[in-house]
Amino acid sequence: MSLMDKALEARAKAYAPYSEFKVGSAIRSSSGKIYVGCNVENASYPEGTCAEAGAIAAMVAAGDREIAEVAVVAGGAEPVSPCGGCRQRLAEFAKGDVPVHMGTLDGAAITRTMAELLPGAFEARHMDS
Ligand code: THU
Repeated sequence: MSLMDKALEARAKAYAPYSEFKVGSAIRSSSGKIYVGCNVENASYPEGTCAEAGAIAAMVAAGDREIAEVAVVAGGAEPVSPCGGCRQRLAEFAKGDVPVHMGTLDGAAITRTMAELLPGAFEARHMDS
């Protein structure tokens, strides 16, 4: 099963009764394991969590720290684009050359690298004195 198919599977479990915009994400770590997440909303709208955040949390909780590949899928007409916050979350564990596949339900997809999605990312080194 492809990484995008894993993301699609996760999307089916999304809890998005407020936006009705279901998102699924799958991350392959450098160890080869795959972690998935879906968006989980709640009545206090800003407190909901994105699909990518869920997949990252699953990866870190399992002891992995390095992202090798990412897939995100949602139901829009255009391939879903990770939000700004999730770009920063992904960049914490993904080097600039990591591919991020963004898909639609009808199978269209585009791929961009992390560096393309978040050029000039704020990194830990910026806090060095
Ligand atoms: N969403 C994600 O899960 N990932 C993104 O990168 C974009 C937005 C979710 C958050 C919210 O539950 C819904 O999509 C609408 O914004």
